[in-house]
Amino acid sequence: MNSQRIEANFKGKHILSLSQFDEKSLQTLFTTTDRLITELESGKPLTYLQGTVATLLFFEPSSRTFSSFAAAIKRMGGDTIDYQNPLQTSSAVKGETLEDTMRVFETYSDFIVMRHPEKGAAQQAANALTQIPILNAGDGIGEHPTQALLDLYTIYKKFGKLSGLKIALVGDLQNGRTVHSLIQGLAMYPDNTVYLLSPERLKLGAEIKNLVQDKLKLIEITSDEDMPTDAHVWYWTRVQKERFEDLAEYEAIKNSFILTPELLEKKGNKDLILMHPLPRVNEIDTRVDSDPRAYYLPHQVRNGMYVRMALVGLVTGKL
Ligand code: CP
Repeated sequence: MNSQRIEANFKGKHILSLSQFDEKSLQTLFTTTDRLITELESGKPLTYLQGTVATLLFFEPSSRTFSSFAAAIKRMGGDTIDYQNPLQTSSAVKGETLEDTMRVFETYSDFIVMRHPEKGAAQQAANALTQIPILNAGDGIGEHPTQALLDLYTIYKKFGKLSGLKIALVGDLQNGRTVHSLIQGLAMYPDNTVYLLSPERLKLGAEIKNLVQDKLKLIEITSDEDMPTDAHVWYWTRVQKERFEDLAEYEAIKNSFILTPELLEKKGNKDLILMHPLPRVNEIDTRVDSDPRAYYLPHQVRNGMYVRMALVGLVTGKL
């Protein structure tokens, strides 16, 4: 098993970081996703994963990632071992290590999808596996590569390209793993400009910035007054309560930037799309939901299942 670059071959590879991808592998994923959507829409049941069992091991809460992987695998004819909340219900409670947990589920399943609160846990888990791949469904404040894959697919389907775009990333850029993965994807394509808007305390960290700043034009802004009016995407994120030790600090900054119909009227353009990995708390006013530019529901969510269908099919070598 290894976590090397995907290039032309997804089969058997761990999916840990967006940095494993390039334009070619993303195009393969998107073409496969398009194909599966067409096949699904034909109404014929898909059987690519018949006989395949995946373990979904989620040490942190999830609605979309857990359920969309489950739906993706089942819509492809596969089955899942569903393990949510293992820190309450698995032998991890008794002190079993992550490595031993991996070696156990490796004997039951053909691949593992894991979310974990610790940055680096997906790599740690991958190091313990010898037979099957693991897909990182979010490792603490590290990365969330499969979210970025569906985000990039959503942007690609709207604009027909992933280059020459202006994208504003807003919210918790320091702890937001979806942002950490997405920005690496945007950096793979030429001529992209990324605007960064966050509370001072939650600015994009140096580690991610150093990875992308030579490949993207990065513009830090401090007020929603400076939102780019010619943007293609406004990508909003949640200020994450669970990443704060001091809840008073969270309360003080949680509502720093809220996407409202008034802001959209003032700074938006007609071709803009509004994205958010979800869940949202208060940072997108629900009055925005009925705007046709609101892609966070349902476009982005729906694409999550489709892209994950393609990804698991490719990683298992069934597609
Ligand atoms: N976008 C996302 O990761 O959502 P969940 O936390 O509900 O999986």
